[in-house]
Amino acid sequence: VGRYAVENPSAIREIMSVVADFEKHPEKYPRKLIYLAGGWPQDPPPPVLREALRELVEDEAAFNLAARYTPTKGDPDFLEAVARYERSVWGREVRESEDAIIAGAGSTELTAAFMMACMDPGDELLLTAPGYLNYKRQAEIEGLLKVRIRWWPVIKDHEYAPDPGELADYITDRTRLLIITSPGNPDGMVMPDDLYEGVLDVAEEKGIWVMLDLAYRAYCFGEEPRYFSRPRRPNEILMCTFSKELRTPGWRLAYAIAEPELVSVVNAIEQARVLCPSGLAQKAITRALATEERLRAIRAYYDAGRKKYARVAGLTLKALEEAMPKAVPLEPQGGFYVFFDASAYEPRSKVFCRELLNEVQVALAPGKDFGMEGWLRLAFAPVVETPELVEEAMERIRAYLSSR
Ligand SMILES: Cc1ncc(COP(=O)(O)O)c(C=O)c1O
Repeated sequence: VGRYAVENPSAIREIMSVVADFEKHPEKYPRKLIYLAGGWPQDPPPPVLREALRELVEDEAAFNLAARYTPTKGDPDFLEAVARYERSVWGREVRESEDAIIAGAGSTELTAAFMMACMDPGDELLLTAPGYLNYKRQAEIEGLLKVRIRWWPVIKDHEYAPDPGELADYITDRTRLLIITSPGNPDGMVMPDDLYEGVLDVAEEKGIWVMLDLAYRAYCFGEEPRYFSRPRRPNEILMCTFSKELRTPGWRLAYAIAEPELVSVVNAIEQARVLCPSGLAQKAITRALATEERLRAIRAYYDAGRKKYARVAGLTLKALEEAMPKAVPLEPQGGFYVFFDASAYEPRSKVFCRELLNEVQVALAPGKDFGMEGWLRLAFAPVVETPELVEEAMERIRAYLSSR
């Protein structure tokens, strides 16, 4: 497993080390790096978060309590706050007897625990192609390389066209779990309600779990799908993280809503893995979600964010179309990314990313790592407050490609 992990590093984490070198030794490079590779929001968290943290620091007794371990599945006040947040901000009822909530140290960590709870050696995980690159690595590492991955293609002829009817062909008697991300990474697509419900129907009939990764739900550019708010269906695992929605990826706090029996298994696994998620992050977020007024402020912050990100997505798409007319993009419906077929310029996406980094100091992510060779992913979240940098990046690429 160690050798596998070293030989198959995370592309995004690798790019981060290049960025760190650019920042530490700018003199080595001809121009300032424009970083459009990783999905980290540039805009700050909502002000209520800072207020909540300040209150916590000023209340000595509460601060001291926040330094302690919490129960593995989360501090009871935090779990209550999450149910309130789901109802008030997302319109979702978390039901007493049918749903259980468990907190985790980020959704990456919590997803891994669910993988362990759902799969045994020899079992299969079904992922969309394209899909978020870390699922494959973590399933292989957590499953000690004894889990098989299958890919369900959802982009055909440059169109996002997931076909639930076709899904059954990818399910075997060893398939245990399917992961869907909506809005998607890297594709920026929001799965329509009827298709997603169709996916759940097929999975229910075949007896498999569906994890819905909602990491980007606060960045839906159009109308939000009903599955953001309707009650959880029996075979659904709702994976929610504060990393993107509250712009706190470094706080490492997420939660899942799932079947109570499954959550008890995950809880037992998490006792061995993490003991508990950060108590400080839980206490601060509990305060930020404590009153209706704060919850309303958070919803307003998300709505303003959706508009801002939609605007920058549009601007990015336009700049891309002008700079790379032979590229074929998907028009993003949500999230942080513009995903496009760049094979007319260079079919090997890793080679192309390296070339653009070396020649024009623009960092993009290779589609190969997301299951789509020839495609590139441009993350506009790191420049959402300074979108002129996207235009500059595209101008650098345009000038380079025309001289190439
Ligand atoms: C689809 C998706 N899920 C999960 C994560 C990781 O989230 P967390 O910070 O909660 O581990 C990311 C991060 O980029 C992501 O793109």
